[in-house]
Amino acid sequence: MIELRNISKQFGDGVPIVALADVDLSVDAGEFVVVLGPSGSGKTTLLNMIGALDSPTSGSIVVDGTDVSQAGRKELFEFRRSSVSFIFQSFNIFPGLTAAENVQFGADATGRDDVDPAAILQSVGLGERVDQFPHELSGGEQQRVAIARALATGNPVMLADEPTGELDFITGVQILELLQKQAAEGQAVLVVTHNREISRIADRVVELSSGRIISDGPPAEGKAALEELHW
Ligand SMILES: Nc1ncnc2c1ncn2[C@@H]1O[C@H](COP(=O)(O)OP(=O)(O)O)[C@@H](O)[C@H]1O
Ligand SMILES: [Mg+2]
Repeated sequence: MIELRNISKQFGDGVPIVALADVDLSVDAGEFVVVLGPSGSGKTTLLNMIGALDSPTSGSIVVDGTDVSQAGRKELFEFRRSSVSFIFQSFNIFPGLTAAENVQFGADATGRDDVDPAAILQSVGLGERVDQFPHELSGGEQQRVAIARALATGNPVMLADEPTGELDFITGVQILELLQKQAAEGQAVLVVTHNREISRIADRVVELSSGRIISDGPPAEGKAALEELHW
């Protein structure tokens, strides 16, 4: 579902900042993969490349059958609409829309007419916040609206950038459980985190350091069930 070959990304001119270097990565439909790395290691850059929100300096990216590194604007527009569901590190929910309207927007964007925003908000623990506007919600609640919107789009690839960053432990675990369920239902799910403990719930952890993949396999500390985690 996701196929990256030899991806490099540099920012700036003069002395370039190397954000990604020689990254090879394949993720299948139904896989739940955690990308682990410290701040500045290239995690957000990697997700932006996969979601066609930025383009690599070199290398090829094929996602859901689209050659993202070669596609034209029109093809990329369609790709972003119908192939990827994105949970942004900075939420990017609409301030003028209620929680339910933000979630409905996700469904509308992909043309789904079988989505019940209230039910999805309920699943992320916001059943009581359906008609609230973002400024009336806490940071953690806003993050969950962003997660609910991504769940509503239902595209084959789910990209989640630090989705539990603003959440307390219990809520974070609930969200990770939901994302695992999405993978079990066939979505290719990529979750980015700097938190090694969180990475232990995945069968597969891809570790980034200074823009390079330094390991790709089961968690080094052993796999843990959600209820065994603490952070
Ligand atoms: N638009 C940009 N312009 C210049 N440098 C950038 C830009 N985006 C990211 N970087 C740099 O690329 C590196 C990787 O950043 P990022 O992917 O955001 O890391 P992470 O998400 O792991 O914290 C960092 O050194 C960061 O400062
Ligand atoms: Mg980041």
